[in-house]
Amino acid sequence: MDKFVIRGGRPLSGTVTIGGAKNASLALMPATLLAGGTHVLRNTPTLRDVVTMTRLLETMGLHIGQSGDVLTIDSSHITSREAPYEHVKKMRASIYVLGPLVGRFGEARVSLPGGCAWGPRPVNLHIEGMRKLGAEIELEAGYIVAKAKRLHGARILFDVSSVGATGNILMAAALAKGTTLIENAAQEPEIVQLTEFLMKMGAKIHGVGTGRLEVEGVDELKPAEVTTIPDRIEAGTFMIAAALAGKKGSAVRIERCNPNHVGSIIVKLEDAGARVETGADWVSVTPPEKLTSINVTTAIYPGFPTDMQAQWISLMMVASGTSVVTDTIYFDRFMHVPELSRLGANITVKENIATVVGVKRLAGAKVMSTDLRASASLILAGLVAEGTTEVLRVYHIDRGYDSVEKKLQALGADIKREKGEEF
Ligand code: UD1
Repeated sequence: MDKFVIRGGRPLSGTVTIGGAKNASLALMPATLLAGGTHVLRNTPTLRDVVTMTRLLETMGLHIGQSGDVLTIDSSHITSREAPYEHVKKMRASIYVLGPLVGRFGEARVSLPGGCAWGPRPVNLHIEGMRKLGAEIELEAGYIVAKAKRLHGARILFDVSSVGATGNILMAAALAKGTTLIENAAQEPEIVQLTEFLMKMGAKIHGVGTGRLEVEGVDELKPAEVTTIPDRIEAGTFMIAAALAGKKGSAVRIERCNPNHVGSIIVKLEDAGARVETGADWVSVTPPEKLTSINVTTAIYPGFPTDMQAQWISLMMVASGTSVVTDTIYFDRFMHVPELSRLGANITVKENIATVVGVKRLAGAKVMSTDLRASASLILAGLVAEGTTEVLRVYHIDRGYDSVEKKLQALGADIKREKGEEF
């Protein structure tokens, strides 16, 4: 298993380019199940999760070609309506095949995802939503087994705003008979992109980008083309890298991102003392003279993303003062804290609240990645820790960041990928 070896203290400057959004691709790819023919997905990031989704869709008979960042998906011949455990256990977003399969073919057998590294991640909203659309659902031997003659429209209210459940129900409802109303729908940019892609395919959806989506079912959809939006979490991670480890007085420019999608991160970085400038598709961050401790509470979009919580803690570890970081989306998502503490951080966690007391220095050590965003926080910390930090099990980071070490090297970081010890 690969590891990253980071020698801290090298100031970052220059320009970094952001890739397509992982969480958009993971919704767009299964959406192609809804219409036979050849779909084209541009600006697709090179990530392990995208490879996992490719393999899963291939087991269902889809033909997927890749040329650079362009995926060509031929969904003319679907040979299986099953998402096996082998794939779903690697990536929870595999559950996105449920809606399209039941919507188009009236049946699906999808492995239940189970928990993840930091705790339970239920799929009850996906299942209840599909039932309201008329699917009969049984749980059999760890699988969701869904059947329906043809789905019908329904009024659905999500008790909790869920990205995945909104995406799944949108896809299923696109081919249902009649109108579906989704109240408290997720408004994340990745859901907006999925909605727009479905509309290009011929779906009739009103209320795009709002919490109230109305889907008028159609009989058939056709293949479409789409350019994936930039990854706001990759952009946000580099913005924090710039604020944390940027060269004093000079900016790191983050290109090919959407500044509107990272608004909450811009505000918090400015509050912490960084200078942030934006253009149509770029953000530049100049590190603060003095980094100030700032509280953050994660929330659904446009609030501060839970996927940036770990990285924010890394920044606050060396700020002056004490900050309180609360995760309201995932209560147990603090696996990075004990590892960050090994570098000298002063953090205590009680329930879903981390209290971070800024320290003057961090010292390099061996640390272990436990999940995708935790890995990002460890790399960030390694950039400013004195001496050498080894981040083990970096396969987690390859799920969601394309060539992170190369992008950091280009900004001046001393980071190398090496073969790590086996566990
Ligand atoms: C997506 C993102 C993930 C991000 C998360 C929250 C993808 C592939 N992943 O995950 O990176 O961290 O949004 O922004 O897009 N919930 C239920 N029941 C359900 C479903 C969700 O109670 O059936 C709860 C969850 O426990 C959580 C909240 O709803 O507290 C939001 O989760 P959700 O938006 O569904 O996350 P994902 O779509 O899995």
